[in-house]
Amino acid sequence: MRGRMSAAKSYAKPVEVGEPMVGGTVGEIVASRNAKFAVGDIVLGYGGWRDYALSGGVGVRKLDPAAAPVTAALGVLGMPGMTAYAGLLEIGRPKPGETVAVAAASGAVGSVVGQIAKIRGCRAVGIAGGPDKCRYVVEELGFDACVDHRPPDFAHQLEAACPAGIDVYFENVGGAVQRAVWPLLYDFARIPVCGLIAQYSATTPTPGPDMFSMLRKRLTLRGFIVTDFAAKEADFLRDAGDWARSGRLKYREDVVEGLENAPAAFLGLLAGKNFGKLLVKVA
Ligand SMILES: NC(=O)c1ccc[n+]([C@@H]2O[C@H](COP(=O)([O-])OP(=O)(O)OC[C@H]3O[C@@H](n4cnc5c(N)ncnc54)[C@H](OP(=O)(O)O)[C@@H]3O)[C@@H](O)[C@H]2O)c1
Repeated sequence: MRGRMSAAKSYAKPVEVGEPMVGGTVGEIVASRNAKFAVGDIVLGYGGWRDYALSGGVGVRKLDPAAAPVTAALGVLGMPGMTAYAGLLEIGRPKPGETVAVAAASGAVGSVVGQIAKIRGCRAVGIAGGPDKCRYVVEELGFDACVDHRPPDFAHQLEAACPAGIDVYFENVGGAVQRAVWPLLYDFARIPVCGLIAQYSATTPTPGPDMFSMLRKRLTLRGFIVTDFAAKEADFLRDAGDWARSGRLKYREDVVEGLENAPAAFLGLLAGKNFGKLLVKVA
């Protein structure tokens, strides 16, 4: 919603000045000319911040008050719950025994993330603002630990709560919390970038990669070391060999004569003086 209160490009259309603020709503049908909805039906929709909204029925779903409290359709059984479920399982891909850390852990999304992590056999570590929220996260939601991000020794506390590092960090806030999490990420950690609430009202760009583009454009950023893919080597040799022989894969070599010239050639490479794969001809 905060993102929609600005003209900045986003995944959702900005709210115009004078328009009602958008938002998910649970409401009661008070008049209907649509055969699918009768007066008295309780529906989930996107009515926004107002008492009454008019709808053609598209994007409106009837709720069964006997199945669950209707407000759950705005939280645990609605968009926030789905956000947690999809982001954690599809992008985080938690495996049993791994540590899953989540910020805004007592909130609509974070609370579901940690509980699903527990259901999947992970260690769930929450990060939340203040002792009451942290206590709730551990005692009521069943997380293994929850760290308050407000005290000055937060980073230290978080490290103590994640002795084996963090395998999945579900990003809801960005900012200082993200900075404390980063050094604790374990090899091959995954980070579903869901929200950056600590930065929503920032008026100047935060140093480092632009995490907003990452979220908005659904970018994938993944570090790797070539040896991670040793099993692909036979495919590589077959494909690259064929392409090089047929001229579809071109290459250029920059050959320096004599081992004594290797140091200068290496310094040159760091300054861009080589042109192509730098080789030293020793003999
Ligand atoms: N990508 C998507 O499709 C999608 C969908 C839904 C939500 N989201 C995002 O998911 C995140 C959580 O949403 P939610 O609906 O579940 O909200 P929420 O967690 O119920 O409420 C927001 C919480 O964020 C924390 N927070 C606010 N300002 C902060 C700051 N400066 N530093 C650290 N924490 C701060 C506060 O918790 P503490 O007091 O514990 O710090 C606050 O209670 C948001 O970033 C939201 O934009 C993304």
